Amino acid sequence: MARDCLALILAAGEGTRMRSSLPKVLHPVANLPMVCHVMRASAKANCEHVAVVVGSGAEAVEDAVRKENPSTETFVQTERLGTGHAVLAARRVVEQGHDILVLFGDTPLVASETLDAMRSELSKGAAVVVLGFRTDNPDGYGRLLEDDGKLLAIREHKEASDAEKQVNFCNGGIMGLSGEHALNLLDAIGNDNAKGEYYLTDVVEIANEKGLRVVAMEGSETEVLGVNTRDGLAQVEALWQEKARLTLMQSGVSMQAPETVFLSADTVIDTDVILEPNIVFGPKVVIGKSAQIKAFCHLEGAHVGEGSVVGPFARLRPGTQLHDETKVGNFVEIKNAVVEQGAKVNHLTYIGDAEIGKAANIGAGTITCNYDGMNKHKTVIGANAFIGSNSALVAPVTIGDGAYVASGSVITEDIPSQAMGIGRGRQANKEGYGAQIRERNAKIKAERSS
Ligand code: UD1
Ligand code: MG
Repeated sequence: MARDCLALILAAGEGTRMRSSLPKVLHPVANLPMVCHVMRASAKANCEHVAVVVGSGAEAVEDAVRKENPSTETFVQTERLGTGHAVLAARRVVEQGHDILVLFGDTPLVASETLDAMRSELSKGAAVVVLGFRTDNPDGYGRLLEDDGKLLAIREHKEASDAEKQVNFCNGGIMGLSGEHALNLLDAIGNDNAKGEYYLTDVVEIANEKGLRVVAMEGSETEVLGVNTRDGLAQVEALWQEKARLTLMQSGVSMQAPETVFLSADTVIDTDVILEPNIVFGPKVVIGKSAQIKAFCHLEGAHVGEGSVVGPFARLRPGTQLHDETKVGNFVEIKNAVVEQGAKVNHLTYIGDAEIGKAANIGAGTITCNYDGMNKHKTVIGANAFIGSNSALVAPVTIGDGAYVASGSVITEDIPSQAMGIGRGRQANKEGYGAQIRERNAKIKAERSS
């Protein structure tokens, strides 16, 4: 039986090398703060409890983690005295005796499967589980010192002897502590070392001295990649995107050039969707089955119904709801609008704050004039309506079912269903006038060149 588990996320880092006014753990990867990625991985590993240790003055971090999960407990580490000290800033939850996974808020790629495996080692009786990785560049990391496959100690880089520095099996930082022993182990950590810090990693030697079981697991280097700089952030972003694209393709989504598609942490795409190159998915996008997103589209806060075709070069902004079998073509921007089944908005159009009925056809260059400089107003277009090209629909305005709008109209009044609205200057033809103009212009040209 798995025991209750607490995910204890350390997020008191200063992050000075980010050169940012935003706390480091709030920098987004796939449009989600890094610390929230860690929370999602632990939630996916079914950790029942979650606590986050923040630095002083990091209210923004507290707000973000509570937004992600309202039952998150937060603790403030007022002085940054090391990872062991940071864990004990959350003493009240440590005392509850749950198994603990210590995670870092700036290490967002950790996989829930790894956390599952660590939990299961704790359930099987390990007092300490360490997640190690092998690397060609171990500088700066704590080294896992083993004897005959048994983890004896973690030596921080600063304390390591030259021989120990040759070891390339390193501490990824993520650690499991059994609920039964955690508090005793943590309380036994001292700060007599090169940095004068309380090293969480000392629990390995302490547990060994007590004759408790210590396990080193091996994970991948990328999974424990910590972010300290902006280029590190970009590297983590790239790794995240690569994995997310692969997962989507494995689930039945086609991508012609996967490396050019950018996803958000919450992007949902159903099977048999085809994604052409160069598409950006901002937050909160859902794409229904068999839809097609053509090249160079930008989508956020949008729902695209089954079998719909979007793009190339379309922009769907928050509140866009395309029902099934709709078409949105090139250079079309849609915001806060419902487009019902089978409706088409194919070229050079702005639709904002609108409802477009079933099978309506919105001609090229149609603009919903939704803003009067102070307030936004709504445009309602009925089913099977036909909006002629280059029309301005001045909201608030309602166009009835099956109604026509004559091309080039400025529509300021409602149009009843099945009627035609026309709002433009009447055309007049002047017989022979074309030839007269040409003659006059030719005369002017001749006078100038003589
Ligand atoms: C730590 C490990 C090291 C491991 C490396 C992996 C210790 C003593 N060392 O070293 O073995 O190889 O991570 O990246 O644990 N933090 C706080 N409060 C503190 C100190 C740290 O919240 O007082 C947080 C930081 O925000 C960070 C994490 O703990 O998220 C790790 O701290 P950091 O200073 O980066 O530790 P390292 O020296 O890298
Ligand atoms: Mg570090």
